[in-house]
Amino acid sequence: MNVLALVGTKRKKGLTASLCNKILEGAEESGHDTEIIFLYEHRIEFCTGCWACAKEGQCVINDDFAGLYSKVKAADVIILGTPCYWGNVTAVMKAFFDRHTGFAMYNPPGADNFHTLTTGGKIKTLLKEKSNFGPLPDLKGKGFIFVVTMTDPALLAYTSGDLRGTVNALKTYMHNLKGKLLGKLVFTDTLFRFLKNKQKKMLDKAYRLGRDLKVLGGKR
Ligand SMILES: Cc1cc2nc3c(=O)[nH]c(=O)nc-3n(C[C@H](O)[C@H](O)[C@H](O)COP(=O)(O)O)c2cc1C
Repeated sequence: MNVLALVGTKRKKGLTASLCNKILEGAEESGHDTEIIFLYEHRIEFCTGCWACAKEGQCVINDDFAGLYSKVKAADVIILGTPCYWGNVTAVMKAFFDRHTGFAMYNPPGADNFHTLTTGGKIKTLLKEKSNFGPLPDLKGKGFIFVVTMTDPALLAYTSGDLRGTVNALKTYMHNLKGKLLGKLVFTDTLFRFLKNKQKKMLDKAYRLGRDLKVLGGKR
């Protein structure tokens, strides 16, 4: 399989990146093709909400998104790695998600009908149009692995909503692509990561997750 890690942190030697790299190491060991992309190394402009993507089938902003988007389309498994920043994914990851809107939520061939529909279509049209919603075929049905790291201790991470906010943002992307969750690594309390060998245990778990991908998911 084609396993792609999309990492939303500038710290290439940080915890999130290390965990993603370990998953890829395990995946390589099992014969999968792997690639890691640090989103911050690419120019990803904010979505302007123009909806040209839904009408034209491509985004009109001229930056690095198109190249990244083709990598996403070619992937069988996508690892989304992000530290929790203010109870959510990092800004670059959110900007990256936003740029998929026309491709993930709407099927461009029916774009004109969609606009008729918003000005008051009949129920019959509505049901017909419903089939146009959803991701484009190349985006559909990929396997996903989430990697989230955060300083909150576990109890606070779960009760404060910070972890939920972060994971929900990742889930929204996955659901819009009609993907399937293959695994999730959540590393809380990162300031104390060396206690009780926690970091090593987590890295070992990451490695196993990558190595056993076939068992978890299988080819689409
Ligand atoms: C701007 C910023 C916001 C953060 N917000 C949170 C937060 O809301 N909750 C939390 O538990 N940790 C938060 N953290 C801590 C990071 O999630 C944590 O240090 C993470 O492990 C860093 O991952 P990295 O080593 O891959 O950079 C924040 C850190 C930064 C720099």
